[in-house]
Amino acid sequence: MFDFDVCIIGTGRVGLPLGLAFVDAGLKAIGYDINADLRSQINQGTMPFREPGFDAIIAKKQFEVSDNIAVAARAKNIIITVGTPLHEHIESDLRQLQRVIEELTPVLRPGHFLGLRSTVAPRTTTFVKRFIEKKSSLRVGVDLGLAFCPERIAEGCAYEELKTLPQVVGCEDTLSKEASSQLFETISPKVLHTSFLNAELVKLFTNAERYVHFALANQFALVADTLDGNIYEIQSLANYEYPRNQLASPGLTAGACLRKDFGMINEWNPYPDILLSAWKMNESIPLFLVDHLRRRTTLIDQRVAILGYTFKQDSDDIRDSLVPKLYRYLQRECPHSIKVSDHNLTAEILDPVNGTLTNTSWEEATEDADVVFVATNHNGYDEVLKTLSTTRPDCWIVDIWNVGGTGQIFYQAQAIADLGSDG
Ligand SMILES: NC(=O)c1ccc[n+]([C@@H]2O[C@H](COP(=O)([O-])OP(=O)(O)OC[C@H]3O[C@@H](n4cnc5c(N)ncnc54)[C@H](O)[C@@H]3O)[C@@H](O)[C@H]2O)c1
Repeated sequence: MFDFDVCIIGTGRVGLPLGLAFVDAGLKAIGYDINADLRSQINQGTMPFREPGFDAIIAKKQFEVSDNIAVAARAKNIIITVGTPLHEHIESDLRQLQRVIEELTPVLRPGHFLGLRSTVAPRTTTFVKRFIEKKSSLRVGVDLGLAFCPERIAEGCAYEELKTLPQVVGCEDTLSKEASSQLFETISPKVLHTSFLNAELVKLFTNAERYVHFALANQFALVADTLDGNIYEIQSLANYEYPRNQLASPGLTAGACLRKDFGMINEWNPYPDILLSAWKMNESIPLFLVDHLRRRTTLIDQRVAILGYTFKQDSDDIRDSLVPKLYRYLQRECPHSIKVSDHNLTAEILDPVNGTLTNTSWEEATEDADVVFVATNHNGYDEVLKTLSTTRPDCWIVDIWNVGGTGQIFYQAQAIADLGSDG
């Protein structure tokens, strides 16, 4: 009856690993995406972004991505993984999802199971159900299945986590329950069912909890530095053999999910809320780093190096990274130069706001640097800082991630060499 087991609509950072995981589990899977460059890379058998574990699977070319949504009709299960950003104000931007369901509804037929996997605002799955039932003669739970089945993997860990994380599925009828179990049991150890709304909130609350957790850590770092305290020493003492909550480390908390998902809860919350404060806290960290460095040394006419441009460690994703914002605050200080180095990115960094930036090697970025910002905690930067401690001991380091191991956010490179001689 169907040519494929599953069709993935939107084969980006979430959809592609999922499609490949289904292929790896022995299913016949196909994709549909509007991005021609992305389609071409995938169809040539190469990963368009870093997601360890999938290179060998994609190289087999068993997962083809089409430019025609009609392929979806040929698959029993259809999973939507398009982007769901926020508008500029606090409001979910449903345009990608709306376009998909408008195009998809005419080709849906009895027997299909439709899974919504993009992160969505509360009640979006109910909206999709209403839309399908209004625009077609199909009835959810009678003719076809519908579920919200959120993606909970961390970018970069999809290969392992798709196989190990329990799959939360929100659906409200037996047909959808059975269809979703049949599909997700092929890759997940456990499928847990709940309502549309609860599943939507499971996803949003998980990310919001993380976002607030890190905001608190950032606030503590800011307070500690304002009072001349040492946040990493405080954290290590507070957590040492302590049986209850552990303090998190500060950082540039950002990324396509954490930064935006809080807004999907927020648009539904007219009451006092801590999410906006967490947002403000996390968003203020680039300014905090520049401002508190300026209390120690000037940035005017200095040579500045930024190590890392992506939103998180060992990633090649700059979406919603706070480093571009840090770059702009540094520009306002009128330094002599700002060099950027990120070995996970291409020779030219195409930043939608800051323009095309030259991506230099770390050696070139730091060779004459007066100030080095460790903006992302990529592996290998500890060695870069060690080198700097001998080649440029007076150079100021801004190290919110504690990559240098000094336990301080602001220090001169010599402090790293001193660690070695102390220990
Ligand atoms: N990236 C993550 O780690 C992560 C984790 C969990 C959840 N999510 C959620 O998953 C969803 C997708 O995120 P992503 O990071 O994969 O985004 P992405 O931008 O990498 O992928 C989305 C893909 O959808 C395609 N697309 C857009 N409109 C389309 C249309 N009308 N028809 C077909 N394809 C279309 C785009 O071309 C793109 O390739 C978002 O809701 C996000 O919040 C992401």
